[in-house]
Amino acid sequence: MVARLVMKLKVAELRREAGDVLAIRLEHPRRPQLPAWTAGAHVDVHVPGLGVRHYSLWGDPDDRSHYLIAVRREEAGRGGSAWLHAALAPDALLTVAAPRNHFELPEAPRRTLLVAGGIGVTPLLAMARRLAHQTAHQNADFAFHYCARSRAAAPLLDEVAAVCGSRLVTWFPEEGRRFDASTVLAAEPAEADVLVCGPPRLAEAVEAAVAARGWPTECFHTERFAALDPGDFVPEPFEAVIASTGAVLSVPAERSLVAVLAEGGIALPTSCESGVCGSCECGYLQGEVVHRDVVLDPRRQKTRLMPCVSRGRGRIVLDL
Ligand code: FES
Repeated sequence: MVARLVMKLKVAELRREAGDVLAIRLEHPRRPQLPAWTAGAHVDVHVPGLGVRHYSLWGDPDDRSHYLIAVRREEAGRGGSAWLHAALAPDALLTVAAPRNHFELPEAPRRTLLVAGGIGVTPLLAMARRLAHQTAHQNADFAFHYCARSRAAAPLLDEVAAVCGSRLVTWFPEEGRRFDASTVLAAEPAEADVLVCGPPRLAEAVEAAVAARGWPTECFHTERFAALDPGDFVPEPFEAVIASTGAVLSVPAERSLVAVLAEGGIALPTSCESGVCGSCECGYLQGEVVHRDVVLDPRRQKTRLMPCVSRGRGRIVLDL
């Protein structure tokens, strides 16, 4: 288990953006460079008294002098965004965990469609920077579809326009342009990688359009922020073996694996406890895992699991 670096970062700049969004520049008070990150990554921000919140990085991964995040005020949220909007001032210190990425750009350079809805623009803006760089040097190309109610509700629009130029396509219903995933994909001559970040409705529509085009599911990528609907899932008891010690832990149906591990002296970091944030991720070596998170893609699910929600069938061996 690798502990994540947690830092006190200084608020170097605050800027109001469209859509009730606060753009925040964070710097280390003493070090010139922050930990490396890749496009699509997020940081965990510790909000005093309210827990951890996750914000995607939208700056340039090659510039490690600072991090850029953007926080939309959620009126009906749990209070974290309201606190950040109200309490942050220049030079304040924020506790921030080093970045991690559950929403990576596919590696092979080919045509890529980025589809952003509102504040979902942030990880895709970092990806657009990367793709703009790649496009100049490799055989890759991309388009950035930006959906929002209106121009005035589209945060970081100027930044996106500066990075994407003519590759930016805006979809603002107030200007009579409504995004239709089927139409957009139908105009693509060949399979493309499609990355979506925005409201679940938007991601579902794009996923359905990818399927309708007959493209493989691997073409579709998204970052989800809501836990899986429990539906008719019925948890069952199972056993977890700790590979390093051989200890066998029994996980009853009504308890999570992460809770049983903590009781057994293995306290994994947790935050959402609903399979959304990725904090508790660990590896497994053997056995059948019933994955219940929205973080890991099918490739990573072969060796990794989120023990706050995912469970074993029978007996699994954990890489701990
Ligand atoms: S604690 Fe968030 S995924 Fe497990």
